[in-house]
Amino acid sequence: MIKVAVLGYGVVGSGVVSVLLRNKDRIRQNAGQEIEVKYILDIKKFPESSHKPLFTDSFDTIRNDPEIKIVVEVIGGTKAALDYTRQSLEAGKSVVTSNKELVALYGNELMNIAAEKGVNYLFEASVGGAIPIIRPLVQCMTANIIGEIYGILNGTTNYILTDMEKSGSDFNAALTEAQKKGYAESDPTADIEGHDTCRKICILSSIAFGSHVHPEHVQTEGIKGITIKDIQNAKALGYKVKLLGRSRSVGDKVLAFVAPHLVSDHSVLSGVDDVMNAVVIRGNAAGDVVFCGAGAGKLPTASAVVADIIDAVRHVHARRWIGWSAGTADMLIDPEFMESAWYIRTDATRDKVMREFGSVIFAENHNGGNANDGGEISFISTVINKRTLQDLLSRDITALSKFRILGDY
Ligand code: HSE
Repeated sequence: MIKVAVLGYGVVGSGVVSVLLRNKDRIRQNAGQEIEVKYILDIKKFPESSHKPLFTDSFDTIRNDPEIKIVVEVIGGTKAALDYTRQSLEAGKSVVTSNKELVALYGNELMNIAAEKGVNYLFEASVGGAIPIIRPLVQCMTANIIGEIYGILNGTTNYILTDMEKSGSDFNAALTEAQKKGYAESDPTADIEGHDTCRKICILSSIAFGSHVHPEHVQTEGIKGITIKDIQNAKALGYKVKLLGRSRSVGDKVLAFVAPHLVSDHSVLSGVDDVMNAVVIRGNAAGDVVFCGAGAGKLPTASAVVADIIDAVRHVHARRWIGWSAGTADMLIDPEFMESAWYIRTDATRDKVMREFGSVIFAENHNGGNANDGGEISFISTVINKRTLQDLLSRDITALSKFRILGDY
């Protein structure tokens, strides 16, 4: 039998304990031995919980208990979570986590400590909830040179955008609905401003390209500026609006950014709605491989955490290789040089747009005119980089919205 401690009894922590109990026999079979939760650490009290005897508020008890071989960090954030993770690894315990902020910021350091101590730091649940993505990238696609990664990496924002599209709700109403359903946090900033997506694309990029891609160096735009008009205009043009994390290898550099995009109705990402996530990985041997599934939620996330616990049990005396080297800010390329077609919503006239932009596709060509939008028009430009776009817009064309179009994927 192997004993574990779960740090944090929130949505994910309670899900982990629940999956460990619910699938106990299957997990014993797959792990080769029984896995028992010996402690649950949380500052909150849960007097009604059937696991009451397991609760402790003393991390020292956990760290000093030689029976604890695996610590499950599902506290979130970077304060106690970082401190407890460092201490657990230093004490020779493997750590399993869903904490993407911690991995994106401190993954390199924590994996180095794990390597020194001969233990594992595993974080399958940090990207894409239930979707197996870290392990496939590290193992199944390891024979490939990865050229590009892109995808829908945040369940909350995808739920909001889907709701706006399907029910015609505006952004605030859709956010309230996402909060009511328990998808969005009471403080949804990290989701709606794109930081969560940024952390996830940084983790995937660091693994794929071998150097730490730091969130602070990645341009990030969220979904707050997206209006119902944008969603409707995109639909009329044959697109959906999706928040994407994107990253590609360019020589020895990396181009990575997060921004709302228009994705074609023919794109594999177009049908990925609600809290579902999908990631496309382009390998030079495998081609495009798509990973799709529930990107958020208690049990989907717990599914990935428990899989890592089982992996750590099976490799309790052997390290799973996973890691990347320390990166530098100058290895990132500014995405403004990346070309794409652009969706623009503006109050400029059609004549003015055609004069400056040349050949464009107007949304009204598809939906019979949008003169009822208070004189606003929307259009898709030819393929140009962001600098050129900004230059064209500086000629007295105010962009009320501007989003890249995902290319021919
Ligand atoms: N807040 C995240 C999301 C949770 O909505 O995708 C899963 O990482």
